[in-house]
Amino acid sequence: MRLDVVTIFPEYLEPLNVSLVGKARARGQLDVRVHDLREWTHDKHNTVDDTPYGGGPGMVMKPEPWGEALDSIIESGEGQPTIVVPTPSGKPFTQELAVELSEKPWLVFTPARYEGIDRRVIEEYAERVDVREVSIGDYVLAGGEAPVLVMVEAVARLLPGVLGNAESHRDDSFAPGAMADLLEGPVYTKPPEWRGRGIPEVLLSGHHGKIARWRRDEAFRRTAVNRPDLLERADPGAFDKKDREM
Ligand code: ADE
Repeated sequence: MRLDVVTIFPEYLEPLNVSLVGKARARGQLDVRVHDLREWTHDKHNTVDDTPYGGGPGMVMKPEPWGEALDSIIESGEGQPTIVVPTPSGKPFTQELAVELSEKPWLVFTPARYEGIDRRVIEEYAERVDVREVSIGDYVLAGGEAPVLVMVEAVARLLPGVLGNAESHRDDSFAPGAMADLLEGPVYTKPPEWRGRGIPEVLLSGHHGKIARWRRDEAFRRTAVNRPDLLERADPGAFDKKDREM
């Protein structure tokens, strides 16, 4: 998969050299290219923003550098990318969207600073390629770079061969399947006793059926406490008699 990021803070994307994403790059599974938007400015001050039409606080990112940057990136590759525009006004970033994006061959991220990018840029590229405006949550950050790090990590770990153990996604909170709509329950490792605290007996039983049931009950309990909204919108057919008694 190819990933391009256009930003005025290329150094903000340094974490893409670390850990899971860094290793995927080193192995050639991810081709990540970070670009400085100011390379596509032509004035002495490398200006990327200006005051908003209609007045109001803050600054708006000018369309010309974005247009030149996106044209040059699109021309540099084969086929068409999906452009992902991080914005608190976008559609929510969910595991479902992460899966969908992980199936694309090429993503271009356009993290903005200030009050956002001149609307005409989004309109222009939406006529030519697939453009997604995406929010990572109901809060406002100072820019789209941290959301790009979030989205790239969520997408990269879904690529074939990137996570060591393919089974590790299976029980993820929000993963499709038997535990869909439930958060993941608690996990334990050695030692069997730590500061006087043991681990649930059932996990030592070797009884796979009982362990699966326990995990499901714990997932259900945690979901009811932390995210009751998930249970309300879940398909009732996804729950069995035991779940309903909880
Ligand atoms: N830029 C600022 N806040 C954001 C958010 N919550 N999601 C995506 N991009 C953003």
